[in-house]
Amino acid sequence: MSGATRRPFPHNDIAALEELLTRIRSQFRRVLIVVEGVYSMDGDIPDLPELIRVKKKHGALLMIDEAHSIGVLGATGGGIGEYFGVDRADVDLWMGTLSKAFASCGGYIGGSHAVIDYLKYTLPGFVYSAGMTPANAAASLAAIRQMRAEPERLVRLHQRALLFHRLADQAGIDTGGSAGTPVIPCVVGDSPALCPAGQRVVRARYQRLPDSVPGCRRGTGPVAVFHHERAHTRADHAHGGRPRRGTRSPRNRSSGDDIVR
Ligand SMILES: Cc1ncc(COP(=O)(O)O)c(C=O)c1O
Repeated sequence: MSGATRRPFPHNDIAALEELLTRIRSQFRRVLIVVEGVYSMDGDIPDLPELIRVKKKHGALLMIDEAHSIGVLGATGGGIGEYFGVDRADVDLWMGTLSKAFASCGGYIGGSHAVIDYLKYTLPGFVYSAGMTPANAAASLAAIRQMRAEPERLVRLHQRALLFHRLADQAGIDTGGSAGTPVIPCVVGDSPALCPAGQRVVRARYQRLPDSVPGCRRGTGPVAVFHHERAHTRADHAHGGRPRRGTRSPRNRSSGDDIVR
């Protein structure tokens, strides 16, 4: 829509990004590097300090889509900036959705005053349509307050994700490059296998449909499983994913601290 030229670089490969910038940076007045805080299909995270170094060296702008990292990474769920402890001003655009950890609908974008003023006067969401409803904003505000007041939820989320990861590994499921975040792909491979696998996932009451190209790389066909803090205890997984009626979660002793940090 913007008319900008797009130049993809290999997944999470900052050396390749730097090589690309070295080659083409001089051809463009402005360059915006866009990455995710947690990659939505692979479940890994970019090396943000390294990205900041590269963007500064090449005079580029940096945008992080925090759809899957806000409310997930960092000691208080502050996202990938908190996780790495970087100066937030080193990222030009912080963008995220309210539809995941923040339990609502809508989105946000953060940056310098100059950039935000510019966006307010130019984005179609402000110019041609109504903005987010106050009720949606209030729901997210309540979710953020609850997250801050009950940090144990975040630890539990990561414990559940680590448990799923470990059990998937034990079951011989290919979890790709997932790096211990609550996004865990179960890589199925080719498309014919994807639909039956997806049906089994839904029948087991995991709330997830399979993804294929262009959502994920050709030939990978993951069924990405997204974790919710309340969902899926060890007992549930042993039961094929079905949260069992009337059972309370057994405390899982694996630590989620390394990713919460
Ligand atoms: C990486 C990423 N960014 C942005 C979004 C947008 O979310 P929504 O349109 O629900 O606000 C999604 C939704 O799945 C996403 O996965």
